[in-house]
Amino acid sequence: MEEQAAKIRIDELREILRENSRRYYVDNAPTMSDYEFDTLMHELERLEADFPQFDSPDSPTRRVGSDLDAPVGANAEAGTRQGFIQRPHRYPMLSLGNTYSISEIEDFAARADKALDGTSFSYSCELKFDGTAICLNYRDGKLVQALTRGDGVQGDDVTDNVRRIAGIPQQLHGDYPADFEIRGEILMPYASFDALNREREAQEEAPFANPRNAASGSLKLIDPEEVARRGLICTLYHIPAESVTFESHSQALDAAASWGLPVSDERRICHDIDGIKDYIDHWDSARKFLPYATDGIVIKINELACQRALGYTAKSPRWAVAYKFKAEQACTELLSIDYQVGRTGAVTPVANLAPVQLSGTVVKRATLNNADQMALLDIRVGDWVFVEKGGEIIPKITGIDPAHRAKDAQPPVFPSVCPDCGTPLVKAEAEAKWFCPNQDGCPMQIKGRLLHFVSRKAMDILAGDMTVEQFYAAGLARTPADLYDISKYQLLSLEGWQDKAAERFLASLEASKQVPFERVLFALGIRYVGETTAKGIARHFGDIDTLAAATQEQLLEIDDVGEVIARSVVDFFAKPEHLEMVARLRAAGLRFDGAGQESALSDALAGKTIVISGNFSISRERMKELITAHGGKAGSSVSGSTAFLLAGSKPGPEKLKKCEKLGIPVVSEEEFRAMLPEEIPDQVGDDKQETGGAPAIEELTLF
Ligand code: IVH
Repeated sequence: MEEQAAKIRIDELREILRENSRRYYVDNAPTMSDYEFDTLMHELERLEADFPQFDSPDSPTRRVGSDLDAPVGANAEAGTRQGFIQRPHRYPMLSLGNTYSISEIEDFAARADKALDGTSFSYSCELKFDGTAICLNYRDGKLVQALTRGDGVQGDDVTDNVRRIAGIPQQLHGDYPADFEIRGEILMPYASFDALNREREAQEEAPFANPRNAASGSLKLIDPEEVARRGLICTLYHIPAESVTFESHSQALDAAASWGLPVSDERRICHDIDGIKDYIDHWDSARKFLPYATDGIVIKINELACQRALGYTAKSPRWAVAYKFKAEQACTELLSIDYQVGRTGAVTPVANLAPVQLSGTVVKRATLNNADQMALLDIRVGDWVFVEKGGEIIPKITGIDPAHRAKDAQPPVFPSVCPDCGTPLVKAEAEAKWFCPNQDGCPMQIKGRLLHFVSRKAMDILAGDMTVEQFYAAGLARTPADLYDISKYQLLSLEGWQDKAAERFLASLEASKQVPFERVLFALGIRYVGETTAKGIARHFGDIDTLAAATQEQLLEIDDVGEVIARSVVDFFAKPEHLEMVARLRAAGLRFDGAGQESALSDALAGKTIVISGNFSISRERMKELITAHGGKAGSSVSGSTAFLLAGSKPGPEKLKKCEKLGIPVVSEEEFRAMLPEEIPDQVGDDKQETGGAPAIEELTLF
């Protein structure tokens, strides 16, 4: 590959991998399968090795993914929080090199053989548990701290939550070291995962995509009691060699088990590559019967002296490697195909399948994407199809088994009219999808737009599929503006609605009036205007009137807005019914201006960079918002340019030390409050965490 082309691809891969790493670790909502992610990461590693001139310390190949502040992500569930206290890891928490190929495991063994130059060693083969990493600290036998992996250097302090996880001892017994740390994985067993998702669906909350996301989301909940109810478990697999004085990794883990710590029994010592291969073969199928998720096996050099000799790369140990299993596939019968109409009118074929077990859950529906994909698969009703789960909750059909096809099976006919309202479908040349053009009359589109409007990422109104269906059927809502006219009396006349539910719904409607302009803009459901684009547009124009009057050229001035988006925005505001809806929403009290400067309260802190540490009477995140609202800047580490350290209870000792060294003042919360022009209410703009919210389903309703 030429240098120029390599640079372009390297930049592109870094961008994709960073974005997906954020979705995985921060939003808890991956959109790419592990296999796709790992394949792209390996491509980047190869390119960086071939073109070292483009090396960068920021490259995703050199950094472990970060879960810090994970609950901030748009998909964070209600009741999770931001602003856990971050604490440094005693030893960096690294990740593992991984591969999907046995020959690369052979290479790993050969490299170790060569580097250890005749020293005899063995391998500890273990399951690769698919949950969220945790680091526990025990002092004098007592659990004193639990940190998430974070960015590998520092992690979120989730000690209170971890104390509520079954099987993690508060007090060890036997001959434990006085001070050590041990690492492992927090997992949500399939049974707990299914129960949790059933409960969430009943409450019209978005289900978790997989047990791993559910485990990491649960670990960041505010309420330790709720964590206790989630049915999480823990398995520990690594004591940093610096922490203890054993000869081998397996001895260290055996000892940990004898102190009462949860350690897997599925570990095996192997002496050669054949032993490793047997272990892989066994678990590739046996893992399907485990009560929790695993995504591969981990092979570690067992002797700690050999581990020390091999050492680490920037990101992972040279003494261990992960062999990952390819995504599980299931084969089942295609019973029928439904055609679903989304809020934009796009028609998506959805397969109804004979129920089949896949990665711990029962799959009954899978997406077929569009007519082209159906043709490509050459799929027929009655076929036996292969289903796979990618990063998302919606499984996809990846192939068919031609051996099973009935002789008279006919290719499915993609509908020519809307399956919901009967309007002839249209297809733009450049699009893969067919559309129902009856935007204002097609019930599925109307309900889809309402669902999008109320979804958590948009207005966060307490309504889901069933509620929207009820409102539609009762004639209470056709456009989002109608929602604000619904009275308590009308709600109580609907089946199943009682006083409390009606009040909660109305309260969430009221609270939505504080949702910032950029999210209101996203909620309007303008085609191609996703969350990020809405933010960019709102910030650029500042208010809806300027935006509604904008030309295509003016829209094109915004980064990331191309012709298609610009045209779609102009078309949206050209329609009188849309302008009327905006006018009604504005009259209802929604925010249509103020993007980017929503909470400026004063300039009392102008020009000051303030670092915060410890706990306050309001959440740390709210405290940061308060600083910004009064014109200050929230800094992350103490330096010469820090104006002062705002210290709550239990501030970080490192930060205090640094302040002392640099002569930077330390200010208490009371002193800080006194600097501001007005009394700070106790819960400044606090999250409406209890309001629940609707699933953010845009096009498909599969479960
Ligand atoms: S050992 C220095 N052993 O997989 C590395 N990790 O993709 C120590 N994991 O970060 C990690 N099962 O979160 C180790 N048996 C196992 C594991 C395991 C799962 C996780 C861990 C790690 C990630 C790497």
